[in-house]
Amino acid sequence: MQSKQETALKDPFGREISYLRLSVTDRCDFRCVYCMDEKMTFVPREQVLSLEEMQTIAEVFVSLGVRKVRLTGGEPLIRTNVLGLCRELGAIDGLDELVMTTNGSRLATMAPELKAAGLKRLNISLDSLQAERFRRLTRTGKLEDVQAGIEAAIAAGFERIKLNTVILKGRNDDEIEALVDYAVGLGIDISFIEEMPLGSISEHDRAEAFMASDEIRERIAARWDMLPCSGKVTDGPSRMFKLTGTDSRVGFISPHSHNFCGECNRVRVTAEGRLLLCLGHEHSLDLKAIIRRYPGDRERLQKAIILALDLKPERHYFDHSNEPEIVRFMNATGG
Ligand code: 5AD
Ligand code: SF4
Repeated sequence: MQSKQETALKDPFGREISYLRLSVTDRCDFRCVYCMDEKMTFVPREQVLSLEEMQTIAEVFVSLGVRKVRLTGGEPLIRTNVLGLCRELGAIDGLDELVMTTNGSRLATMAPELKAAGLKRLNISLDSLQAERFRRLTRTGKLEDVQAGIEAAIAAGFERIKLNTVILKGRNDDEIEALVDYAVGLGIDISFIEEMPLGSISEHDRAEAFMASDEIRERIAARWDMLPCSGKVTDGPSRMFKLTGTDSRVGFISPHSHNFCGECNRVRVTAEGRLLLCLGHEHSLDLKAIIRRYPGDRERLQKAIILALDLKPERHYFDHSNEPEIVRFMNATGG
């Protein structure tokens, strides 16, 4: 394999790619109303990358300059032996940060093992603190499992835990303050994400449910003093604020209202091995086809990835209509 190159992954707009989001499964034990339709078809198992293939892909990305890998899904913790994958990735020389986004349903039992496997940080999705409503928003989820998972993650000593919250107007916007209170009480962070038009859903009207980050921020600013964080802690697209007098920060991920594409440093690999250059476009490269046709040929994979970066679009263009240009759902995209 080639030696490490700091900047092998540069796109036509001068952005350096140092962050890979790797979806380990498109399946999930939840069916969140903004992420999935009630009836979903999932990728047939033989088309999903094996854990060894995922490891190879992650290693190749690190050899090209990637420093951070986030495991996503679907729900990563339902993939059999995801812990083994974490251990392998955690040991890759040159990878600074291995992190995960999870719905928290299995964290109560898995948090200590995940920490031991080398995972540094966790993002945990949480949209409501009311059991009935939580069930409605996730269609299948149990709030108490997720709360037990959050507590287990804190007890396991993860460096930084962040809640991810999608606010839907008229559904859970009355819980903004309560969710912030909950994060503050636990000394963890929370980010509010504007709903993105990924996949066609019939459960609600995305335009009607849209709530801009600025409105959420104003609500929070009425109760807490917020100081903008600068530098690295802004964490990519998230605009972070420290809540003074607390250990918590609040972030806003605003794909609609504050375009963040200029600072994009990431690409995604879907569970079926498609390299996606942008959340809001279909430009992609089929890494699985290469890896299965030329097993062991890492140099070929490296070259293909470098070339694919030429396809990375300058920015996404989401609008509020209910006709998504992007037909893939978030679980197929790699949350
Ligand atoms: N828009 C915004 N966020 C979404 N998520 C899933 N689907 C969407 C969507 N359409 C969120 C989940 C999770 C994170 C990975 O992405 O709530 O927190
Ligand atoms: Fe599962 Fe996350 Fe999608 Fe909810 S948002 S259905 S937890 S993948």
